[in-house]
Amino acid sequence: MVRKEDIFPIGIGTWNIDCENIEKEIPSLMYSFSHGQNYLSLYMLYNHGEVVKKVKKFIDQVGREHLFITVNLEPTIEDIQDVFEQLNKYLEILDIHYVDSLQLHSPMFSKIPLVDVYTEIQRLVSMGIVRYIGISNVNLEQLITVHSVVPIDFFEGVYNLECKIYEDNGVLDYCKKNGIRFICYQVLRRGRTAKRNYPLLLELSKKYNKTQNQIIINWVWKEKNIYPLIKSTNVERICENIQSFDFEMSREDYKKLNQFRSSEFDGVSIDWEGNGGITIDQLANQFD
Ligand SMILES: NC(=O)c1ccc[n+]([C@@H]2O[C@H](COP(=O)([O-])OP(=O)(O)OC[C@H]3O[C@@H](n4cnc5c(N)ncnc54)[C@H](OP(=O)(O)O)[C@@H]3O)[C@@H](O)[C@H]2O)c1
Repeated sequence: MVRKEDIFPIGIGTWNIDCENIEKEIPSLMYSFSHGQNYLSLYMLYNHGEVVKKVKKFIDQVGREHLFITVNLEPTIEDIQDVFEQLNKYLEILDIHYVDSLQLHSPMFSKIPLVDVYTEIQRLVSMGIVRYIGISNVNLEQLITVHSVVPIDFFEGVYNLECKIYEDNGVLDYCKKNGIRFICYQVLRRGRTAKRNYPLLLELSKKYNKTQNQIIINWVWKEKNIYPLIKSTNVERICENIQSFDFEMSREDYKKLNQFRSSEFDGVSIDWEGNGGITIDQLANQFD
């Protein structure tokens, strides 16, 4: 079993894995693993369940106990029994006995109260089929409400140079104070942040002889203590991402990245309750 303290800084994301060409994708996943990446995130909604089915081969090759596997509950929970049923589907398809972390992916669409969902997840922990409890895409108020009833181990949310909403709304600080590991998705905004060629990233990239993406990943991990979850099945880009940790930037440069603001993203108001508008899981996909 992988202890939560032993998770590699970059997790393996699985959105958009090419299921049609999985024979080509598996060696890339193996490459990630052989370079230390041991955190794997799965979601049944990706490609109608195909990603989970296809990635099983990777899990089997590596050996289940060498991976920390996080799975996501779909937002279609209408009855509390759906929580166990959805988890069980992952266990059956992957032919494993437990998941390392279980989280509700999109609480804004949940039809039953969050606390009820999480009380049920805690029951699954006591049954030994879930090791840790995660939560994703909630705001500070929702996090505090759930964490006061059920202890949360992981928070998964969007964080990158341009989208700092979880810093602004106090979630990052709360996680830090309460020992909750913050996992961020879309740290590179699927490569779109670098394409914007912000002068600050260009300056630091030149100064440290690293790519803009490496500057972002280094800052997120070393300065913010956030674990980026990145999807890449391209060996060159996997290398690029992993080689983000072998350098230190000056205090002043980390400070410049901390202070960087994007007026576009700062102006967005998020729909936390699923009533329409921009939902937090779509924030990083705006403006391009
Ligand atoms: N909880 C949530 O609501 C939520 C939301 C979104 C995502 N997620 C999870 O987080 C993971 C990561 O998010 P994401 O996949 O949306 O975004 P991402 O990791 O920022 O970007 C992935 C995309 O960028 C490319 N890429 C990776 N490294 C790159 C690099 N160094 N330079 C240029 N392009 C690069 C990948 O293509 P190649 O494979 O060709 O390299 C892929 O198309 C997902 O896979 C998913 O597991 C969770």
